[in-house]
Amino acid sequence: MRTTKTVDEADLGDPDLYTTPDRHARWRALAAEDAMVWSDPGSSPAGFWSVFSHRACAAVLAPSAPFTSEYGMMIGFDRDHPDTSGGRMMVVSEQEQHRELRRLVGPLLSRAAARELAERVRTEVSGVLDQALDGEVCDVAAAIGSRIPAAVVCDILGVPAEDQDMLIELTQHAFGGADEQFDGMTPRQAHTEILVYFDELISARRKRSGSDLVSTLVADDRLTTDDVILNCDNVLIGGNETTRHAITGAVHALATVPGLLTGLRDGSADIDTVVEEVLRWTSPAMHVLRVTTGEVTINGRHLPPGTPVVAWLPAANRDPAEFDDPDTFRPGRKPNRHITFGHGVHHCLGSALARIELSVVLRALAERISRVELVKEPAWLRAIVVQGYRELPVRFTGR
Ligand code: HEM
Repeated sequence: MRTTKTVDEADLGDPDLYTTPDRHARWRALAAEDAMVWSDPGSSPAGFWSVFSHRACAAVLAPSAPFTSEYGMMIGFDRDHPDTSGGRMMVVSEQEQHRELRRLVGPLLSRAAARELAERVRTEVSGVLDQALDGEVCDVAAAIGSRIPAAVVCDILGVPAEDQDMLIELTQHAFGGADEQFDGMTPRQAHTEILVYFDELISARRKRSGSDLVSTLVADDRLTTDDVILNCDNVLIGGNETTRHAITGAVHALATVPGLLTGLRDGSADIDTVVEEVLRWTSPAMHVLRVTTGEVTINGRHLPPGTPVVAWLPAANRDPAEFDDPDTFRPGRKPNRHITFGHGVHHCLGSALARIELSVVLRALAERISRVELVKEPAWLRAIVVQGYRELPVRFTGR
């Protein structure tokens, strides 16, 4: 156990630190030391502590730990600068309100629901592969990674077929991580357009309900229209920002891990085990923040109530104390106790769906592709919430 400042006073909320693969070496060193780093006010108004090891991250997120998400779950929020969605949106709610929202939304994202959505994923994958197999360079991040989760979330929300292409395009733009304008809109404006669309969908479902997420939330009298919008947005963001990078990372692994594609095709690589390794290796959710609700000691350091603490999930997922040879993608890695989906009461509600999306994509690629060639090294997003691909250009060779 150490309390240290290995990263030389760095503000760990600075997105420029994460645009190159060196981030892994830095995180690995901090996890190996079980370091605890303080970042002064800068990216966040009050400053925050960071933990990196698998043990410390799991301890901060444990159900019994004296921490809350209600002030916000990302760098920038704290007790004096709280997220205004706190106590209303699932991921930043606690106790009764959190349990109630999970009870409402859970069935729509369950394993059974995910199995039903698998057919939609298959259709989408097949459509994007038809286009990607034309011999041209394909940017997987834009063409495959972003399309599939957006289509799935449209089905969950109950977006009518005639609006889906528009909403998928808006979603691809809102969460693509690129700064360019699309149809005269910035990504932030595209996200606002989506929220306006949710408002219209809610009015439509109040008149005529179905079995989708919007109808389920609208049927609960305790939720205002704003609460419904916030929780639709939670599923939209949760389902898109992360899964797109895991899917892109799966293709990155197929292009760079020797024998993976043939192993999946001939059955020598178990697909569920490979999916877990894709999740660990890509670890798309970069950090989660909590604020202490009482006195707590973490890594030997005493923290008073109201202290923000950040758990860096990709660091925990490559902690050498938990994973042998952590930077290597091992298709058969077992055990694989990654915390890609977080840990504790906020453990990702869409994890079954994300796993099914990944296994359908891997199976479809193994069936239809004989080779994936990396055209150039991936470009990474300048971001702190997600660890993700800005661009992954590959060339597919069909079978
Ligand atoms: C929560 C990661 C896919 C919906 C979380 C959390 C993480 C996470 C780390 C916990 C946040 C916290 O503790 O503060 C991921 C990753 C995914 C993924 C890495 C893909 C690889 C999805 C999908 C959906 C989804 C597909 C829905 C369509 C949610 C929701 C929560 C959540 C609703 C809030 C749960 C709660 O607060 O109880 N996710 N997620 N996620 N995720 Fe995911």
